Amino acid sequence: MDWGMKNRLSQVIQTDGHCFFMPIDHGYFQGPTSCLERPGETIKPLLPYADALFVTRGVLRSAIDPVKSKPVILRVSGGTSMVGEDLANEGLTTSIREILRLNVAAVGMSVFIGTKYEKETLLNLARLVNECEDYGIPVMAVTAVGRELEKRDARYLALCCRIAAELGARVVKTYWCENFEKVTNGCPVPVVMAGGPRCETDLEVMEFVYDGIQKGAIGINLGRNVWQNKYPVAMMKALHSIIHKKATAKEAHELFKEEKNKARK
Ligand code: 5RP
Repeated sequence: MDWGMKNRLSQVIQTDGHCFFMPIDHGYFQGPTSCLERPGETIKPLLPYADALFVTRGVLRSAIDPVKSKPVILRVSGGTSMVGEDLANEGLTTSIREILRLNVAAVGMSVFIGTKYEKETLLNLARLVNECEDYGIPVMAVTAVGRELEKRDARYLALCCRIAAELGARVVKTYWCENFEKVTNGCPVPVVMAGGPRCETDLEVMEFVYDGIQKGAIGINLGRNVWQNKYPVAMMKALHSIIHKKATAKEAHELFKEEKNKARK
């Protein structure tokens, strides 16, 4: 692997081999998502516990301090909205010149496998990999499901992750599911877990993150289950302990409760 590629990957994946990405890219199709109306304010207290930010160029330029930023994974796909016809109809939004100008550590884009736009989004991934590899920029593929959250099972997600890796993604982001080892075992590149909509309980978040890590995920890219929580800093600290300190779900939950009580005082 070339020096530049290695250097960029090591900015987002820590020396323990694990990572905690903080996504704040939701506005690119959802608009001002709840708790992310002012993304710069939302993430300020959370940043110390995150390894990288997943963000679009618009929010990067308008809300993130270039002097004190965490490494950036730039969201470079889009072109759809919650009120539009089909969330799967995404294209590439950001040129390679812009990616270089913003000096990012990696880029990320969604693929929509099994939809009408499967081929287009997969070829966009291949195109992005072709361009980014020339400059040593890792591409993270996001196996998106749009509104069809029920698609999140091991058979489908394993298929998506493998295809994304075959097309050249250096990292794949996907959802946690039952039998998650089937997803990681079939994927030759590191797998990172997304969160999805809010879980019913805090413990549930810690349990699926712990399970996924035990089954081979290298880390998480969790947004709503963190910054929509009433105690987001406590949540960050708890999840950080699973990712980087080998805590169990139960230990992380204890930490969460301690931190939550401190924040209440
Ligand atoms: C949207 C994304 C988000 O980055 C991803 O879904 C993670 O955020 P959350 O944990 O809120 O689901 O890729 O397509």
